[in-house]
Amino acid sequence: MTSSTTPEAPGDLEARIEELLSRMTLAEKIGQLSQVNAPGPDIPEDFADALRAGRVGSVLNEVDPEVVARLQRIAVEESRLGIPLLIGRDVIHGFRTIFPIPIGQASSWNPELIRRGARAAAVEAAASGVNWTFAPMVDIGRDPRWGRVAECLGEDPYLGSRLAEAMVRGFQGDDLSAHDTIAACAKHFAGYGASEAGRDYNSTDIPERQLRDVHLPPFKAAVEAGVATLMASFSDIDGVPASANRKLMTSILREEWDFDGFVVSDWDSIAQLAVHGLTSGDRESAMEAANAGVDMEMASWCYVEHLEGLVHDGLVAEARVDSMCSNVLRVKFRLGLFETPHVAPERHSVDVEAHLREAHEAAVESAVLLTNRPVSDRGPALPLPLHRISSIAVVGPLADEPREQLGTWIFDGDPSLSRTPLHELRTRIDDRIEVTYHPTLETPRSRDDAEFEATAEAVEAADVALLFLGEDAILSGEAHCRADIRLPGVQEALIHRLAKTGTPLVLVLMTGRPLALEGVHEALDSILCVWHPGSMAGPAIVDLLVGDRTPSGKLPVTFPRRTGQVPIYYAQKRTGKPPTPESFVYIDDIPAGAEQLSAGNTSFHLDVWYRPMFSFGHGLSYTTFGYEHISTSSAEMSLDGEITIEVDVVNLGSRPGHEVVQLYICDPVASATRPVRELKRFQKVFLKPGERTRVRFRLDADDLAFCRRDYTMGAERGRIDVWVGGNSNAELHTFFDVV
Ligand code: NOJ
Repeated sequence: MTSSTTPEAPGDLEARIEELLSRMTLAEKIGQLSQVNAPGPDIPEDFADALRAGRVGSVLNEVDPEVVARLQRIAVEESRLGIPLLIGRDVIHGFRTIFPIPIGQASSWNPELIRRGARAAAVEAAASGVNWTFAPMVDIGRDPRWGRVAECLGEDPYLGSRLAEAMVRGFQGDDLSAHDTIAACAKHFAGYGASEAGRDYNSTDIPERQLRDVHLPPFKAAVEAGVATLMASFSDIDGVPASANRKLMTSILREEWDFDGFVVSDWDSIAQLAVHGLTSGDRESAMEAANAGVDMEMASWCYVEHLEGLVHDGLVAEARVDSMCSNVLRVKFRLGLFETPHVAPERHSVDVEAHLREAHEAAVESAVLLTNRPVSDRGPALPLPLHRISSIAVVGPLADEPREQLGTWIFDGDPSLSRTPLHELRTRIDDRIEVTYHPTLETPRSRDDAEFEATAEAVEAADVALLFLGEDAILSGEAHCRADIRLPGVQEALIHRLAKTGTPLVLVLMTGRPLALEGVHEALDSILCVWHPGSMAGPAIVDLLVGDRTPSGKLPVTFPRRTGQVPIYYAQKRTGKPPTPESFVYIDDIPAGAEQLSAGNTSFHLDVWYRPMFSFGHGLSYTTFGYEHISTSSAEMSLDGEITIEVDVVNLGSRPGHEVVQLYICDPVASATRPVRELKRFQKVFLKPGERTRVRFRLDADDLAFCRRDYTMGAERGRIDVWVGGNSNAELHTFFDVV
């Protein structure tokens, strides 16, 4: 952990920890390792007694500043040692002001914007007395069936790492002890996103090389950015649940990465070691978790009830408990809690208007224009040609749902701050244009098509239809996974019915995950994926629809054509039999009686084109960007040197816009097989029409490092292919040799 968030010299800090520890009983040390759910506004006497006895180190889920202040007062003023509490809460994509869900924020490819979003959330949460958030979730998400893909930062370890750092910096600021910064928590260590079949909490089987190349980098980046805490994953990984996984919690996290904050279990995950079948009960679970390196227990009571006995029986060393307790105290000291444990709302003003402006910007930059086809002679469906239309039919239940637009994890979100797309369209669009509204479905999951004909009539009479469809918030997030990721309910049928009207159809897709849009994609003229955009969905979406802003989001995760393609992600391996357009055979084209080998002999499914619907990095704009003149600073890079790759990017269209310039590499011959492409750099640039800029990216051997055949991390000599462009299919190519 870096010391950038440390208010005092490390030596002083360690001395303070040691001094305090020397005065603590074993029971008090164990108390610091216990995190309990808040009891509600009336603090029961037995709860207060536990605080007085120093049996609680942290409380989660209390956000009433008065109650937090009472809890802190009891801990600080009425306990023997006066150790303040950590107050934890899932502040994931905003607190009162809700920002786009994390996968949406990741679509901005804008670390600074993401940092500011986390900063706003921290300021609001800190005003409620929260001093610790369980974010960012930095699990790699390559399976859109998994509900928590909504909460992740995408499928790519490099993008995920840069955005993880940004979130950590946003929550923690430069000074963790400041009154408006909060401790962050990189979760869920590690591999939680790889749950089999995309079913939450399911087992993960991650080979060492994939663990190191794909799943660990964002955690390492968070640790290097100074993240105060990590959370253990619920899952087992190769047979050992993370909460008992010494290799993860100690060998990698402490010994390799030098992390000196603390690790919290997930909710009940220590007690669940017995449910996994790893232990026979709570006592053994406490022993496994403590010896593995999980410092604090969330929600369950294994540590409180059994650690003392385990120490007396010599099954957990007291030195182990000392070190766990020190890790927790270190974070409390760094947060400045001993100096100012209480919330003092009067010193803490929250500028909600400023946060709404940030949330608005984040929602604009999170939107990804997936498709934008020409509509007859008037150009692409978007932006709406307002001067040529006199009526807009707004369709779908998500156009005016203040709560649904907020997405998952909105414990503290304030729907009264929400501005919906329908409301915004009605207030912003000229009176000359008639805006009619047809919710048509009660929820996105409804199967009732009774309103279809009436809606189709209205759409037929309109110049354009804006369809606000997708998933309501309940369909994604923790434990909300889907086996079929098509548009739920009868939405596909609705789109097909409306397509028959001939009116241009613009889908504004609100969703918590990539959806499989095969089938409906062809029926739509334009698709703007806005994810769950948060409080300011309306203003942001209308800005984009009318062309006041130009879409600039890029997908941080692949959209499959069909669920059965999952997992499908850009950085797949080449295999020994890569598919090609020539080798692909479609099921309908196989003649009767064909022999086995006549239906192709490469890696594809017979019943779906082998490419995804929308690739990682994809995102259109209202302008177009050209890439030219790629060059490298030298033909060779030595293993201890560096190389610069340059490219011209030019705005070829007639509108200003942002472009995310992406650099991918491939190591085509290596001691272990490598992905066909790997993102290594990106930069978001703004260009006026006709404007050109030269973008420079520097790489060194660390950027080329991977888990080699012998399991050491490092780069290898040989050719490196490089592509630069606006998505993961970028064609502008060069290469250099590592010598
Ligand atoms: C369980 C979730 O997995 C975790 O991400 C969250 O922070 C905790 N519950 C606390 O709510």
